[in-house]
Amino acid sequence: MKGIVLAGGEGSRLDPITRVASKQLQPVYDKPMVFYPLATLMEAGVRDVLVISTPKDLSRFEELLGTGSQWGLRIEYAVQPSPGGIAEAFLIGEEFIAGNAVALILGDNIFHGDLGLSSRSSELHDEAIVFGYPVNDPERYGVIELDASGRAVSLEEKPNAPQSNLAVPGFYLYDNRVVEIARGLQPSARGELEITDINRFYLKEGTLRVIRLSRGVAWLDSGTHDSLLDAANFIATIEHRQGLKIACLEEIALDHGYVDVGTVMRSLEGMPQSGYREYVEKVVEERRSSS
Ligand code: TTP
Repeated sequence: MKGIVLAGGEGSRLDPITRVASKQLQPVYDKPMVFYPLATLMEAGVRDVLVISTPKDLSRFEELLGTGSQWGLRIEYAVQPSPGGIAEAFLIGEEFIAGNAVALILGDNIFHGDLGLSSRSSELHDEAIVFGYPVNDPERYGVIELDASGRAVSLEEKPNAPQSNLAVPGFYLYDNRVVEIARGLQPSARGELEITDINRFYLKEGTLRVIRLSRGVAWLDSGTHDSLLDAANFIATIEHRQGLKIACLEEIALDHGYVDVGTVMRSLEGMPQSGYREYVEKVVEERRSSS
């Protein structure tokens, strides 16, 4: 399965912070925001990644993430000239997707915990997977309603009268028809190609699978000053308590066998002294002493 991190947009709610760098490059405690969605893709078994951002910011992502080989990934880059909607990612990424199944994650979505993706999610056929996450303020999100057997019955974008408290987070997995489906979309009233319209296609077809995230999973929003601070505090709290880092890409790459210890040791050579480096050194030491 291929993966796309969509990291464009205006980031207007974070102004003036986003005048200097895009939202997804801002720190969430000890790493840039984009590390978190990238970690989520890696944990889902994705190694081929397309990062999409604005003409202004794309080169910064390239500088930060490079080819991805340090994490056993192949990262490519593409521009979204203006925010034409989340579903536009499939048109921009058509050549990259090249007829494969694809997972799309928004560059400002942070997950922590087990998302319940089984290995069969890695090659989807004739279905899509979205998640349902209980929130206090569903009217701010795409909202999904399930029947008693857990099947999706309705899906609405920012409804005034939500049919459930289940928001659809910005992480979606599709079979290889998604590019064609995106090509058939008309822009919405706000002029965007809507991801909800793609999900509705699968819903109508009866092939939209919804994984209800358990209460142990954290899904954090980081689009406003307060939610960005809350996300940073959440990450810091868990990391301090456990002595384990969330979204340390070297550690995830090692855990999934994407790289060997030697590769991570070579990355360390160019890494300045920091808490992040100290953690990677600790991870390497542990792996070496256990092998
Ligand atoms: P939003 O948070 O809805 O928009 P934004 O990031 O531009 O922020 P603001 O509302 O403060 O101006 O977008 C959600 C995510 O999707 C975010 O990571 C940006 C990304 N996105 C794109 O990359 N391209 C798009 O066309 C859209 C609509 C969103």
